[in-house]
Amino acid sequence: MKQFIEWSNALSVGIDEIDNQRKLFVGMVNEMHEAIQARQCREVVGDVLVRLADYTNNHVPAEEGLMRAIKYPGYKAHQDEHQQLIRRVVEFQKKVDGGTTTIGFELMHFLEVWFTDHIMWSDQQYVEHFIEAAAKPKQRPGVGRLWQR
Ligand SMILES: [Fe+2]
Repeated sequence: MKQFIEWSNALSVGIDEIDNQRKLFVGMVNEMHEAIQARQCREVVGDVLVRLADYTNNHVPAEEGLMRAIKYPGYKAHQDEHQQLIRRVVEFQKKVDGGTTTIGFELMHFLEVWFTDHIMWSDQQYVEHFIEAAAKPKQRPGVGRLWQR
C-alpha cells in the first residue's frame, strides 16, 4: 500500500538526530493511516499513543534545550505549542484509558496537523535558525559542540 507520507529529501534537514525523530513521526502517521484503511483503528490507537508520548518525551526536551543554547528568539512561542500538543496527547490518553477506542480519525487528524503545522513549519524555522547559528560558531559559543552531537 502506498504510504500516506513518503519519506524524501524534502522532509530531511540533514541532521541525523532530527531526521530520525521525523522518521519516527512519519511512521506513526503512516501506521494510523493504514489502520484506518484496514478499519483497525481500535487495535492501534493505544499503541500509537504510547509511541507518541514517547516521541514527545524525547523531542520536547531535546528541542527546547537546543533552542535555549542558541537563544532562539521564537523559544517561548514554540514552547507554548509543545505544551498544547502535550495537553492533547494527555487528553487522548485519558480517553483511551477510560475505554474509548473510537478516536482513530481524531488522532489521525491531530497527527496530520502536528506534522504540517508544527514539524514542517515551527520546527523547520528553528532548525534553519540552528543551522545558520552553527555555521557561525564564533558568534555563538557552544553551538559548534551541540552541532556535533
Ligand atoms: Fe517542536
